[in-house]
This record gives sequence, C-alpha cells and structure tokens, in this order.
Amino acid sequence: MTFSLDDLRRWPDLEGPDLLAADAADRLILDESAAARARVPLDEIAVVEDSYGALTLGAAAAGPPGSGAVRVHQDTLVGERALEANAERAGLAGAVRWIGLSAEGLDGAHIVLLRLPKSLDALRDIAGSIAAHAAPDVTVFAGGRLKHMTVAMNDVLAEFFLRVDVTHARQKSRVLIARGPQHGHDPRPQQRTHDGLVVCAFGGVFAGPAIDIGTRFLLAQLPEVVADDGAVVDLACGTGVVAAWLARRHPHLVVHATDQSAAAVASARATAEANGLADRIAVVRDDALSTLPEASASFIALNPPFHSGVAVHTGLAAHLFADAARALRPGRELWTVWNSALGYRPTLERIVGPTRQVARNTKFTVTASVRR
Ligand SMILES: C[S@@+](CC[C@H](N)C(=O)[O-])C[C@H]1O[C@@H](n2cnc3c(N)ncnc32)[C@H](O)[C@@H]1O
Repeated sequence: MTFSLDDLRRWPDLEGPDLLAADAADRLILDESAAARARVPLDEIAVVEDSYGALTLGAAAAGPPGSGAVRVHQDTLVGERALEANAERAGLAGAVRWIGLSAEGLDGAHIVLLRLPKSLDALRDIAGSIAAHAAPDVTVFAGGRLKHMTVAMNDVLAEFFLRVDVTHARQKSRVLIARGPQHGHDPRPQQRTHDGLVVCAFGGVFAGPAIDIGTRFLLAQLPEVVADDGAVVDLACGTGVVAAWLARRHPHLVVHATDQSAAAVASARATAEANGLADRIAVVRDDALSTLPEASASFIALNPPFHSGVAVHTGLAAHLFADAARALRPGRELWTVWNSALGYRPTLERIVGPTRQVARNTKFTVTASVRR
C-alpha cells in the first residue's frame, strides 16, 4: 500500500474543510530528517507531539520494513486514537509503538521528530526528557509553523542541547535541529499554593500552577451539598484543582477526575498527592467519561476546553456535555462554567436537560443542568 500524508484524517477529532491532519511543518520535519532517518532502523526513531500521525507514519512508511516500530508520545488521547486509526488504514499498525517520555520509552532513540508544542513549559519538559534519556548522539528535528514559533523556543532547546541549528523557512514553517544533549532531567511540576491548596502543573497544562479566573468563579459557586449516590466527577480536570477543592471541602467524598491530556493527568495526580488527597481522588486519562458507565455519576463539575474558532469551541464542549449527560443519573446535575459570549445554555438544555443560571459576572456564567 502506498502511504500519502493526504490520506490522513483527524477523526475522532473534529474534522472540517479548514482543519488539516497534516501540514507544511510536518512535511518540512520529514524532509529535513530524511537523510538521517535513512541511516537508522525504525526502532531508533522517536516522535513526540505528532498531531494525527503525519510524522510517525511518514517515518514508518519510509523506513526499511522489519526494522521495528517507530516510537511515539502524544499528549492528547484524541491524537493517539487518530494516529491509531490512520495507522490501521495505512497498513502500518505494526510499525508504531506508544511510549512515555521516560528512560524506558526514549532509551536508544537516535532521531527524534518533534512537533513543537505551543507552551514553552511543555517544550522544556519534552527537551529535558529527551536530553536525559535518548542516545548521546541523538538528533532532534523540532518544527512548527512560523506563526506559532518564537526565539524563546531556541533558548529552551539550548538549555538541553549544546548545538541548535535553524533551517530555512519553507511554506511558513521552520525546523530547529538540536544535537549534543546536556543537563537532561525528568519533568518537575511547578507548584503554587492558593488558600492552602497546592496546585501542581507539568508543562502545557491549562492555567499552569495558577487558578484560571473562570475556574475560580466555578469554585465559588459550587453547591454546599454534593449528591454522592454515584461518582462525583471533575470532568476535563487539567491540574485537578476542582477535584482537590471538592475533596478538601467534603472529606467524605471520593472524586473521579479525567482529562485526555497526559500532562494534565500527571499534574492532577501530583496535585492530589501534594494536598494529601491521593486516596480520595482517582485520576484517569480518558476521552470525556468513556470509562464511566451510563447513569452512574451523581455530580459533575466542568470547565470545558476552548480553542480558537467558535465552531471548534462548541464542538469540543458539546462532546463533553453529551458524555456528561450519558454518565449522569437522571435528576443529577452538571455544573458548568463558560465564557458568557459562548452562549452555551441552549446547548446544555438540549443535550443534558433543564438548565438554570447559578451566577454570572462580567465574563463568565455558571449553570447547573439537571439530567432529564
Ligand atoms: C479549560 S481546561 C479546564 C481544566 C481544569 N478543570 C481547570 O478548571 O483548571 C479544559 C481541559 O479539558 C481537557 N480536555 C479537552 N478535551 C477533552 C476530552 N475529550 N476529554 C477529557 N478532557 C478533555 C483539556 O486537556 C483541558 O485540561
């Protein structure tokens, strides 16, 4: 089967005419690394932050068959699932293996293809892990779209690599090539204490160790009494600040926290641990609440994800509302905070059930939706 980047899909992530599964930056990373990749077996290549499989499958399709599997680490579960589906369609499922950014995952990696993350803190965690655990002669091809790149990214790479070269730009994309790993270490979460609550954040997690103003508004409104005849849930938990806040305020509660991001899950576990709540907060990497049975939750708190582009915003939130509705027991509530401009109330009414406004300030609205 011939592999083409044009055949890749974003599914199960949102799809649309302007939403691409592979772009010019992916193509440039593949082209800049082609000569180096030709000299190594597939199992010495690692890919970090591939969006939907362009880098991993591009490398796997070009490598000598039977030379093992390309390793890949992706922060998002939806990215993993898209890559898996693309690999299956391309007949390359056996040529891909998912890893953690750990000694075990990165050991013996001679080439790393990296799609630069937006967050410098995320880049610092990734670069530090590669420098600590990949082969001493590793070459990192780190690329992105110019509009998302800053010189601060070169500086972060220079903290962990002796040499960082910059390629010519092509189609508004560029690649940074890093060699000579130094000062590598495993990621360490940032920590900040808010009213006695410690928030831990690995690189790239929403709001970092701060508490977002929308989240603060939600916390201030959450009910005095939380129904606990089913799972009490912090949906899309990020650093786990809502879960920790609920568990601290209600000492009898066990809280189920989920997020699709690996960095968020690691952060939420660290937050639970730092507050002595690890035995009452279970953190699961999940797409919405897919691991919870239907009608099993008694309370769900949610600060939904957002993204540039209103259509994408609404699509992401509606997916979480729908799964919250599925997981809630009839008569039980989903409490949501949203930027008032997004006007989510009719969507919540339609997907979950009768929705009342609990509070509203200049920017945010908090609603409670009763599962019908
Ligand atoms: C606005 S942040 C809220 C984080 C945290 N609850 C807070 O208030 O600080 C939204 C979170 O949704 C997560 N997310 C996005 N899509 C998701 C999905 N399909 N399933 C689970 N979590 C998701 C993101 O990773 C992000 O951490």
